[in-house]
Amino acid sequence: MKAKPFLALTAVTKSFVPGFPVLQDVSLGFRKGEVHAILGENGAGKSTLLNILFGMHQADAGGILLAGREVVHHSPADAIANRIGMVHQHFKLVRSFTVAENLRLAAPPAIRPSLRRHADIARLAKGFGLDIDPRAVVASLPLSMQQRVEILKALINQAELILFDEPTTILNPAEIEAFYAVLRQIAAEGRAVVVVTHHLNEVIAHAQHASVIRRGQLISSGPVAGRAREDFVREMVGHEVDLSAPLPNSGLGRGAAELSLRDVTLAPTPSSSGLKHMSLDVHAGEVVGIAGVEGNGQRELFDIVAGLRRPDAGSVQARRQHADGRPVAGLVPEDRHQEGLVLDLPVSVNLLLNKIGEAPYARGGRLMHGKITAQAERMRADSDVRARSVHVTPRILSGGNQQKIVLARALNEDAAIVVVYQPTRGLDVAASEEVLRRLRAAANAGKAVLFISSNLDEIMRISDRIVIFYAGQAVGEVGRDASRAAVGALMTGGAHA
Ligand SMILES: Nc1ncnc2c1ncn2[C@@H]1O[C@H](COP(=O)(O)OP(=O)(O)OP(=O)(O)O)[C@@H](O)[C@H]1O
Ligand SMILES: [Mg+2]
Repeated sequence: MKAKPFLALTAVTKSFVPGFPVLQDVSLGFRKGEVHAILGENGAGKSTLLNILFGMHQADAGGILLAGREVVHHSPADAIANRIGMVHQHFKLVRSFTVAENLRLAAPPAIRPSLRRHADIARLAKGFGLDIDPRAVVASLPLSMQQRVEILKALINQAELILFDEPTTILNPAEIEAFYAVLRQIAAEGRAVVVVTHHLNEVIAHAQHASVIRRGQLISSGPVAGRAREDFVREMVGHEVDLSAPLPNSGLGRGAAELSLRDVTLAPTPSSSGLKHMSLDVHAGEVVGIAGVEGNGQRELFDIVAGLRRPDAGSVQARRQHADGRPVAGLVPEDRHQEGLVLDLPVSVNLLLNKIGEAPYARGGRLMHGKITAQAERMRADSDVRARSVHVTPRILSGGNQQKIVLARALNEDAAIVVVYQPTRGLDVAASEEVLRRLRAAANAGKAVLFISSNLDEIMRISDRIVIFYAGQAVGEVGRDASRAAVGALMTGGAHA
């Protein structure tokens, strides 16, 4: 017989707005020694569930049983006292402090003396399989290392259950493998691990137990062994989804070059490969995919096309440009919180951000609220943004629904060029498919789409041409029918097969 759960939710119900339950009657247990994955569409209630466990929200009904005893978490301090740790999507670290300082800050007083020396911290971290430099300032660390600090904080607080909200969206494939090796060790040592993720391949490879939530209700909870991707997708979405549906191009070929980079050069810095003599055209009617291991010039390319940085040498030309020379383009930036959304303005304003000052949305200096709402409502319905109305702010929306707003706006621009950077990051499987389908349709309708992503599968499915980046250079270009192996070899600096 299986061990009793260390922690269980009993019939938890939660609404933020009366009449709109986000979780309904959810009962679920987490056992020590297991990695337990929580799956569900964007907005299903996954983060809310973790936040209730961690004391950030309170359930309206139902409760939490810890080793069979009813407990109440009024705040994260209560949860931490009950040996629960959480690694949030957006880290809660003091960025100007060192790793050691952050750990001391988070540690209970009794533990602090043992964290005084850097060597002791390094040894402690290593014991958990986490290599990290205690002297490093957090802001200077890559996200994968910052995540390790968060994991260490939980472990130092002697957490017996650690909650992770979409921990791998910020990691590259090698970092993801290393991350799950750490989780396996943490669980094997007798802790319970809960991971919210949209990546079903990770669940199948690394989780022992999986629970699916759909629109606030628990659909299934059981062992992962013997289950297939398609089973999970059906439970998440509520119907069959064909994830291998083709994304055909229009067959009409391409039109004029809408965007042309010539010999664009950006000096490298310690944290960036820069760009070296980058020349690239994107034509009307095509999707050009940029493939490469993260950090090989993709961010620099986005920044240059978006007009956020100017090249040190070379030129960027677009058929339509703003007065300052920036290409007129619909943009989906990588970091939707920092660059994509104004989190405290309504969804309607976010959807129409670049148009809000013009007719028909403004007349004689006055905003035409009726026009704004009507158009925003149309865009919301089209893009399946799950928000109660366009008057709420994106801050309260789930991560995936925030991203849908950014994409809807980019496609609604009066621009021939669309530039997207990691457009499906944080999106559920069905929503990711929808994004790819929309971008392909935009190209087929004549837009020039520049598709920058670290997800090679997506790039291969949507692109007409794939340009491979390595060390700030375009090291190769292949067509629709190229093999994954050929692209993979170029991505790691190998020669064209
Ligand atoms: N503070 C809040 N006020 C009002 N509504 C909220 C609040 N927090 C979350 N919600 C709503 O609760 C629902 C569930 O959100 P939640 O963040 O739990 O989804 P999720 O499953 O984590 O989605 P994602 O995969 O996109 O992160 C959403 O409809 C969201 O808009
Ligand atoms: Mg979430």
